[in-house]
Amino acid sequence: MSSVNIGILISGGGTNLQSIIDNIKNGNIKGEIKIVISNRKDAYGLIRAERSGIKALYIDRKEFNTEKEYNEKIMEEFEKRNIELVVLAGYLKVLSRGFVEKYKGRIINIHPSLIPSFCGKGCYGEKVHQMVLDYGVKVTGATVHFVDEGTDTGPIILQRAVEVKDKDTVDTLKERVLAVEHELLPEAVKFFCENRLTIEGRKVIIK
Ligand code: GRF
Repeated sequence: MSSVNIGILISGGGTNLQSIIDNIKNGNIKGEIKIVISNRKDAYGLIRAERSGIKALYIDRKEFNTEKEYNEKIMEEFEKRNIELVVLAGYLKVLSRGFVEKYKGRIINIHPSLIPSFCGKGCYGEKVHQMVLDYGVKVTGATVHFVDEGTDTGPIILQRAVEVKDKDTVDTLKERVLAVEHELLPEAVKFFCENRLTIEGRKVIIK
C-alpha cells in the first residue's frame, strides 16, 4: 500500500500534529506529512514540524484580500505536493467553500467535545471545556470527523468519552481530553490511509 500524502493545517501548539508525526515515525500510519501550514506565525506546531524535517509554512492572512484568496494559496501549496488527505489539527480558521468542495471526503478535523454537543461557530479550544463545566455535564470527550460545509457538522469518524470530575477546572479537563485526542486523531488518519473509511450519508463505516 503506497503512502498517502498528508497536508496539515494548524494554529497553535501542535500536540495533535505531534501525535501524527510520532505515529508515522513508528510505522502505525502509512502516510507522509508533506507540509504543515499555519495561519499564526507563533504557532509552536511550526517548530515541531521543522524539528521532524517537515516543510513548515506560515501564510499571513493580511497578505490576501479575501478568505477565498487565502484558501486558494493554501490549495496551491497542497496541489504542488499532491496532497491526498488534509488534517485540521487545531486549525482555527473556517475553510472556504471552494476548499471544502475540492477536498470533500478528504478533510479530517479533531474537536474537543462529543459532537453535536458544545460545538459550532465560536466554540473552540478552552471555550469548549468552559461550556462543559458551566453546563454541568458528567461526560465529555473528543470527536474526529470529516469536514463539510458547516462548522463541526461533518460525518463522525471516531468519538471517545471522558468523565467530567467534580473538581475539574478547564486546565485539568483539557489535559484529559487532549490525551484522548492524541489517540483518536492518529487512529482516524491511520484508517483513512488504509482506505478503511466509507461515508454512507451521515455515517462513517470503518472496515
Ligand atoms: C485541541 O484541543 C483540538 O481539539 C482543538 O484545538 C486544540 C489544538 O491543540 N481543535 P494542539 O494545537 O494540537 O495542541
